[in-house]
Amino acid sequence: MIIVKNIEECRAARKKLGRLALVPTMGALHEGHLSLMMLARAHAPKVAASIFVNPTQFGPREDYTKYPRPIEADLEKCRQAEIDLLFLPDADQMYMPGMAEVIVDLPQLSSVLEGKHRPGHFRGVCQVVAKLFNIIQPDVAVFGQKDFQQFRILSAMVEALDFPIEVVPGPTVREPDGLAMSSRNQYLSPTDREKALAISRGLFAAQAEFKKGIRQTNRLITTIQHILLEQHLSIDYIAAVDPITLKHVDAATGPVVLAVAARVGTTRLIDNITLA
Ligand code: PAF
Repeated sequence: MIIVKNIEECRAARKKLGRLALVPTMGALHEGHLSLMMLARAHAPKVAASIFVNPTQFGPREDYTKYPRPIEADLEKCRQAEIDLLFLPDADQMYMPGMAEVIVDLPQLSSVLEGKHRPGHFRGVCQVVAKLFNIIQPDVAVFGQKDFQQFRILSAMVEALDFPIEVVPGPTVREPDGLAMSSRNQYLSPTDREKALAISRGLFAAQAEFKKGIRQTNRLITTIQHILLEQHLSIDYIAAVDPITLKHVDAATGPVVLAVAARVGTTRLIDNITLA
């Protein structure tokens, strides 16, 4: 595995690799990331990953400073996943002091759901991913569907800005009890982890109702809401949206994404499922 920390070294190493798939990450790697790396391998003979906790996508009261950075464990996981090129920049490398401010925004997609609750979040995500794309120049990029709005926005960014990159979705990986894997799960105390299970339980209950023929999304949302409130979770949103426009859908007669964001104690978690 070639490990590079600066942009010039990264460009030089990338040139030798031919067709390349990229898995951008913020580290604290878990099975979900490893499954994205395996998927990347199925799309290209060489796989690159980046680990960079991107400051521009965190709000002022969010967890940027406490975000886990277990770099030795991450390096080991990347080696086991047979990553060919690992880009590990620091913040000054990505955001040279004095650099002009650049905004990449897709307001129709970024002003709803997560974007409404985390103003500026997707500008930060688009900024850093556009930079990673320009630095690493992958042929394929893989992003997890747990962050389904992020996936949609980045796919739209690639299309709108003509990046010659195929964007591939990686299915959400769950713990055996249903909890969607997330680097933030490690913030949960054992009690909070139990409560957090209400999120996937709620989504699966709504999915079961959908399978029985219920199509009104307000009924599906109410089902999820009851299950979350039973565990006293603080709900940011429960939404039923079109997977392309991210607009609210009243009747699940075509594909619909049910998306949840809720706080368990001080930990904010998101999850979603697609009904089709
Ligand atoms: O999903 C993430 O881990 C991050 O948002 C990403 C895509 C690596 C950008 O910092």
